[in-house]
Amino acid sequence: MTEDDRPALRELFTRAGAGSPTDNLWGDPETEATAYLYPYLEHEPESLFVAVSDDGELLGYLTGCVNSAAFPSEEKRIDQAIRNPRLLLRPTAVGFFARAVVDALSAKLRGQPVVADFTDPRWPSHLHINVAPEARGTGAAGALIDRFLAHAKSAGSPGCHLQTVVENPRAVRFFEKMGFTPHGETPPIPGPRFEGAKLHQLTMVRAL
Ligand SMILES: CC(C)(COP(=O)(O)OP(=O)(O)OC[C@H]1O[C@@H](n2cnc3c(N)ncnc32)[C@H](O)[C@@H]1OP(=O)(O)O)[C@@H](O)C(=O)NCCC(=O)NCCS
Repeated sequence: MTEDDRPALRELFTRAGAGSPTDNLWGDPETEATAYLYPYLEHEPESLFVAVSDDGELLGYLTGCVNSAAFPSEEKRIDQAIRNPRLLLRPTAVGFFARAVVDALSAKLRGQPVVADFTDPRWPSHLHINVAPEARGTGAAGALIDRFLAHAKSAGSPGCHLQTVVENPRAVRFFEKMGFTPHGETPPIPGPRFEGAKLHQLTMVRAL
């Protein structure tokens, strides 16, 4: 990514996840970017890669970090995002966070595993990837992963993890093809729904 890519990246962020179960989490792209895009731009732009068409259009991006222990946790980033008062005016967001509280409580009461940031020194790097619908199936996504893993490895990282959802089979097959394997439990994620059903977090890991 270069500095000039920033405006197009912000626009791509709102559409690149289209069709996936985790697209449109609480329905407000600006605050979702506070949790899932801006921290990567701020803290580790050198680990952010973009896929660009022949005529210069941004088609996909990968946000990553080499050492997750030195990066703001997902919990912290979401906390910061939901402090934005504009969310109080968005019924979809209010509904999402209310459901998240109820889901978390009910998981606790049933003794179910709960979602948590993944910290394991064997796989300290992590990544998120989204490719626009018109660039899926082209190899762009694989090239983004290869580029980031080479970068993480050359920075000395022994391994990489990512967190996706069981209900996203295309992404899971893609990550398996890229050498990642499922790791650990698949707890329900408090808040989101896809086609009316709960989502389950799937952690995947790969040595470098
Ligand atoms: C996940 C993503 C990055 C994968 O990139 P991609 O270009 O679609 O990847 P591929 O074309 O290599 O497809 C991956 C696998 O999905 C399967 N697949 C392809 N088209 C599919 C379709 N229409 N429906 C379901 N599965 C499909 C294939 O099995 C393919 O593996 P194969 O090449 O061995 O046949 C991309 O689909 C994407 O950005 N999706 C939306 C956002 C998202 O889900 N991000 C990940 C969140 S964790």
